[in-house]
Amino acid sequence: MVAEYTLLELLSDGHFHSGTELGEKLGISRTAIWKHIKVLETDYALDVQAVQGKGYRLTKAIELLDEQKIVAGLVESAKALLAVLEIKTVLDSTNHFLMQQDLEQCGIGQVVLAEMQTAGRGRRGKIWVSPFAQNIYLSLLWGFDNVSLNLSGVSLAVGVAVVNALKKMGVDGLTLKWPNDIYWQGRKLGGILLELKGEAGGPCTMVVGLGLNVNMSRQAASDIDQAWIDLNTICHQPLSRNRLVSELLSELLAAMQLYAQQGLKPFIAQWQQSDMLKDKPVTLLLPQQQRTGVARGIDEQGALLFESEGKIESVYAGEVSLRLR
Ligand code: BTN
Repeated sequence: MVAEYTLLELLSDGHFHSGTELGEKLGISRTAIWKHIKVLETDYALDVQAVQGKGYRLTKAIELLDEQKIVAGLVESAKALLAVLEIKTVLDSTNHFLMQQDLEQCGIGQVVLAEMQTAGRGRRGKIWVSPFAQNIYLSLLWGFDNVSLNLSGVSLAVGVAVVNALKKMGVDGLTLKWPNDIYWQGRKLGGILLELKGEAGGPCTMVVGLGLNVNMSRQAASDIDQAWIDLNTICHQPLSRNRLVSELLSELLAAMQLYAQQGLKPFIAQWQQSDMLKDKPVTLLLPQQQRTGVARGIDEQGALLFESEGKIESVYAGEVSLRLR
């Protein structure tokens, strides 16, 4: 794994590197380099070109995630809130990684990012497609001491934070689909998955997972079962993933702190401005049934206001999903 990562760092520029040069830098034989190249192709689905007399190159340069660059790009207040930042080459799921951590040993403000997830989790048991070094797969651990705080709006606050971070990167026109999807022109750009850790009734610890498409290849996207988009397509140019993570964490950590102090209230107006489904005909997918109606925004708890047969009721997220009709 270490040799493969070092090899990746050397190849990430997309230029040719001879087997001899790579072997010398890694302190291994050219045959061993060839074997590691095969692993990059099979396990990470990377496209490596091998040309006799020139060596190896990635057919597309990649920007690997870099802890120092990310931390340097954080606003000062976020630096103070960030406890730990870990970057993993491969994880099954960044959410699962944080959910498994012993609560005694993990700190509020702990963040983990992975270059690739082998079992990325989406909502309602779906898979989150997570190819290597192309997108953002980020999880953050946060704790809420105030047991009377209503946490049902956290995913909405996170959505607002993501929209704000992306605005700073020059991405406009994003919308939020209740309860926690990020869309652009009707196509899904990202999703948020919250998982609760710890005991009911006690102080609550939460894992906030964010998946954001930055440079999704058509091949990887063949497993996505809905209309999707990525940031590079929206912006017509490649965005720096490191800068993106700095902006996301700056907004996200501030949003979590504000939510812990004041709940959903400071986020409602902004969420409403980004509401993708306001006054649109929708279908509510419940575990056992489907209901049709009209989305009428959110209430002060973050529940969906759902109008059906002339009556408006509040619907809480849970296992509910919403489709535009
Ligand atoms: C959705 O279904 O819209 C939610 C997707 C959440 C995906 C992210 S990627 C980082 C984190 N780790 C996971 O396994 N899932 C979340």
